[in-house]
Amino acid sequence: MIKQAIIPLAGLGTRLLPLTSVFAKELLPINGKPGIEYILDECIEAGIKEVVFIISKKKEMIRKYFYNDRFYKKILKKKKDLRIKEEYKKILKYKKMIKFVYQNKPLGTGDAVLKTKRFIKGKYFLMLLPDDLIIKQNCSKSMIKVHNQYKSSVMASMNVAKKTVTRWGIYKLKKKLNKKNYLVEKVIEKPSIKKAPSNKAVIGRYILPKTIFSVLSKQKPGKGGEIHITDSIQSLINNSESFIAHNFSGKYLDCGSMQGYIKSTLEIAKI
Ligand code: UTP
Repeated sequence: MIKQAIIPLAGLGTRLLPLTSVFAKELLPINGKPGIEYILDECIEAGIKEVVFIISKKKEMIRKYFYNDRFYKKILKKKKDLRIKEEYKKILKYKKMIKFVYQNKPLGTGDAVLKTKRFIKGKYFLMLLPDDLIIKQNCSKSMIKVHNQYKSSVMASMNVAKKTVTRWGIYKLKKKLNKKNYLVEKVIEKPSIKKAPSNKAVIGRYILPKTIFSVLSKQKPGKGGEIHITDSIQSLINNSESFIAHNFSGKYLDCGSMQGYIKSTLEIAKI
């Protein structure tokens, strides 16, 4: 059973400047609720009991958001406001399940994952990239179902426009298992349009095996000088770990770019 999730939050968020010059993008409100809370709610609903946040000194405000007890207690003593009481209760519930680890240099998603090694107990764990919101259907929950059925690693997938493949991890399909699940043959981080093996992209939800840590500890930087999780996934595939790409049913919202963030707010306000 998958009970642990990790969330890399140590990136710089340059695509959302100036909003991120002094503020953590994961705390930016999407229709009145910080983006990270949507991600935590998805985890809780999927049966996750412990979440490891990878943050950096620059993103200390994320920890503070969940550890502002003195402030809340003082306010609640003065003001018997039911709404604030409920919000604080929710924060306490999140806080109980979060552990923090630091990645002070943003060397890439793979390096961020490696920082969580000592926390992971089970054979597999879930990873969520908080820039990728998936609404209407719980993607993590359906991926865990797929994992339980096939006992393999899983990544969320969707078809993208061919001209945008350079923005994603793109995979080549080995075998169609059924309508929504495909066995992956290879995956490439941000390929050129010419080199892309398909228009099937990996989205920010992964069920990864614990064995990924030993691969990551030896991994050299890849595209753009960063240690990408995609490259370690490819090494695992080469070592006969099966990865299933799961075509999720929910709606994908990109919250990591300015245009996407604005659009996400409007989309969520509609539901
Ligand atoms: P991105 O590279 O897409 O986002 O990382 P970013 O670096 O935060 O933002 P831009 O590209 O400068 O606008 C995807 C996720 O991985 C985390 C980020 O915080 C984000 O949630 N990440 C990235 C890390 O935790 N560490 C890293 O070294 C890189």
